[in-house]
Amino acid sequence: MTDILSQYKGSTIEDLPTPNFIIDEEKFDRNCTTMLNNIEKLSQECDVPIKFRAHVKTHKTAKGTFKQLGHGLPLAKRITRAILVSTLKEAVELLDYQDRQCLDYIDDISYSLPCCVSEFIPLLSNLSRRVNNFQVFVDNVEHLENLKKFGKPASGKKWSIFIKVDMGTNRAGLACNSSEFLSLLKRLTSPDIKEVVEPYGFYAHAGHSYSSTTINDTQALLMEEIKAVNSAAKVLCSVDPEFDASALTLSVGATPTSNSLKLDDKSTLVRLITAELIGKLEVHCGNYCMYDLQQVATGCVQDYELSGFVLGTVLSSYPSRGELLSNTGVMSLTREASSIKGFGICVDLKQVLTSKEFSREWYVARVSQEHGILKPIRNWSETTLLKLGTKFAVLPQHACITMAQFEYYFVVNSQGVVTDVWVPFQKW
Ligand SMILES: Cc1ncc(COP(=O)(O)O)c(C=O)c1O
Repeated sequence: MTDILSQYKGSTIEDLPTPNFIIDEEKFDRNCTTMLNNIEKLSQECDVPIKFRAHVKTHKTAKGTFKQLGHGLPLAKRITRAILVSTLKEAVELLDYQDRQCLDYIDDISYSLPCCVSEFIPLLSNLSRRVNNFQVFVDNVEHLENLKKFGKPASGKKWSIFIKVDMGTNRAGLACNSSEFLSLLKRLTSPDIKEVVEPYGFYAHAGHSYSSTTINDTQALLMEEIKAVNSAAKVLCSVDPEFDASALTLSVGATPTSNSLKLDDKSTLVRLITAELIGKLEVHCGNYCMYDLQQVATGCVQDYELSGFVLGTVLSSYPSRGELLSNTGVMSLTREASSIKGFGICVDLKQVLTSKEFSREWYVARVSQEHGILKPIRNWSETTLLKLGTKFAVLPQHACITMAQFEYYFVVNSQGVVTDVWVPFQKW
């Protein structure tokens, strides 16, 4: 992508081709700094170390990941070395990138898909050699059998496993009170498994926190996440009373629940962590570096905090039906939704980078492959019309899936000038 960078470096967003994805670097930095500092503050309030693990799935870029870890952020009060990946490709490419740059920012990787089956175990084993700490996800007793059958990974250490706890989202993981969970832990404590596998900790992700509408709701869900992993650790101790739970990592988080750390009143949370937790707390999240309308809908962030948007162009207008045509169709916006109606909110380019109040006038009401239909939020006669050829920003519903539609992202400063191009490690 050096060609793209040399072609567009110094251009302003108005001069960029559309549709494209734009990252506002100042906002990205601010979002990363805020999260790191909120974790640091919680750690100080609880007077216990609390680790932060950054999920890189939203942007899948090396430069974005390093910022999530705290590099190049003058106001960040801590650095972390731990990440979560959603594909093995993200891990491999990030490690290749940091090797090429002679950096060692990342030394701890968790792969958040429970996939200990024969197709993947050799790949997981290879990766274990490349990083000091590597955790695989397990949520099935057969995963343990498969790891035992394979033997120790290429690192020569034991398999370090996160056990995925299901908190009611019914995606991956096991509920702590399920018979499958108990069988898994019993098997984990048997001597032949212990020879090759060791528990790193328990992991919960409150995916349902995305339907919260207030920050207080998300704080309650953060506490539920903590209680879930803590109960899971207690079950392990009941199965193996010799087990030292204080060494276990209890990992919690999603962007909405982690955002609740912004609340000033954390007294109940602090009490839970300091009085009840039997392992070491870790917080993980990913989308917070970008944000999107789904996050705005949780009541934890404002629309002007989004650090990325799709750049589109008005192509035609149909006054008699009160609609405009744009090139922001499903291929650039996806069909993701939230309680905020439509497939994206349109924002004037003059406002999107610097304003703290967006005048929401248009939204993307319908999408087909390349066509987007814009409708006024109020009515046609009260709305500032957009001339054909006008470029505008669309705040996406779901940044992770929207960004996956673009081969690269233009990074701009607060004046809207392109300073860089970030290339994601997409697909598999
Ligand atoms: C297993 C897991 N952990 C963590 C995350 C990060 O969540 P968020 O993007 O809400 O921070 C995700 C996101 O989908 C996930 O699937």
